[in-house]
Amino acid sequence: DWSMAAYRDETIGKLRAQIGQSRVICGLSGGVDSSVAAVLIHEAIGDQLTCVFVDHGLMRKDEATQVVGLFRDHYNIPLVHVDASDTFLSALDGVDDPEVKRKTIGKLFIDVFEAEAEKIGGADFLAQGTLYPDVIESVSFSGGPSVTIKSHHNVGGLPERMNMKLVEPLRELFKDEVRALGRELGLPETFVGRHPFPGPGLAIRCPGGVTREKLDILRQADAVYLDEIRKAGLYDEIWQAFAVLLPVKTVGVMGDGRTYEYVVALRAVTSVDGMTADFFPYDMNFLGRAATRIINEVRGVNRVVYDVTSKPPGTIEWE
Ligand code: XMP
Repeated sequence: DWSMAAYRDETIGKLRAQIGQSRVICGLSGGVDSSVAAVLIHEAIGDQLTCVFVDHGLMRKDEATQVVGLFRDHYNIPLVHVDASDTFLSALDGVDDPEVKRKTIGKLFIDVFEAEAEKIGGADFLAQGTLYPDVIESVSFSGGPSVTIKSHHNVGGLPERMNMKLVEPLRELFKDEVRALGRELGLPETFVGRHPFPGPGLAIRCPGGVTREKLDILRQADAVYLDEIRKAGLYDEIWQAFAVLLPVKTVGVMGDGRTYEYVVALRAVTSVDGMTADFFPYDMNFLGRAATRIINEVRGVNRVVYDVTSKPPGTIEWE
């Protein structure tokens, strides 16, 4: 792609000018955006970059292993793997408001990045894979009506006081452009084609309070659902698909007994840029198969529903 090759070269030049001889910490989430940002910055400044993967205990199944593997083995980019799940989960204990969740997580990310920066003797810059739509949806425009839909942790969720300056080389791009840039940088197709995953992770897919028990149930249900999507050959037709664990228990029947367990909602949407989206029109047989497998394989769930809300008026995530 000619235009992406040009964009890459131009951005590398700008990054070198902005960063000079300073050290940069890059927060890797495992998503396409932060991965592309990291590889691009590494091309620009090499060993001045340290990537930090913060496992906040809100990752999907096997996510940490995949991300750490890609960066250490495939790219040879220095990567610090921080297991901060206790810190994040105890800070989230009893928090059920979506914006408070996002802000709590955003602040803890910065605490971890600052601690890591100190360990390497200080860093002047924090790099993030912020995209154009994140900026639009998070910023309260001055002058115009002040509306924040969600504080994306990598924009509005950041604490106001922070020691590091931000480096955001994807800030002008939409998702499809980031994917093209990722291909240009040689990221494997399986990685470039991954569905988006939000920084606050599974915390915003557990409406209400977040507990380890709920996260475990959600992680398993989500893995089964995505496995069915891949088996049906639908992964690449969908912009994003995931399970949500509702804070509601309902009555069911299993064998001769009564059950009283959680409800899982399934979400899948098509979209071009995440700013608007349509619910994915599954064949009912697919939904039936996915529901049966989730209920049979995941303890703690006895009912599955499908979300048929488009954006607007819904958002893609539930929080
Ligand atoms: P919504 O739910 O606002 O999501 O329709 C639009 C897209 O953004 C993703 N998303 C986030 N990504 N940090 C991120 O990096 C966040 O805090 C965040 N919140 C939502 C969401 O998954 C969807 O792709």
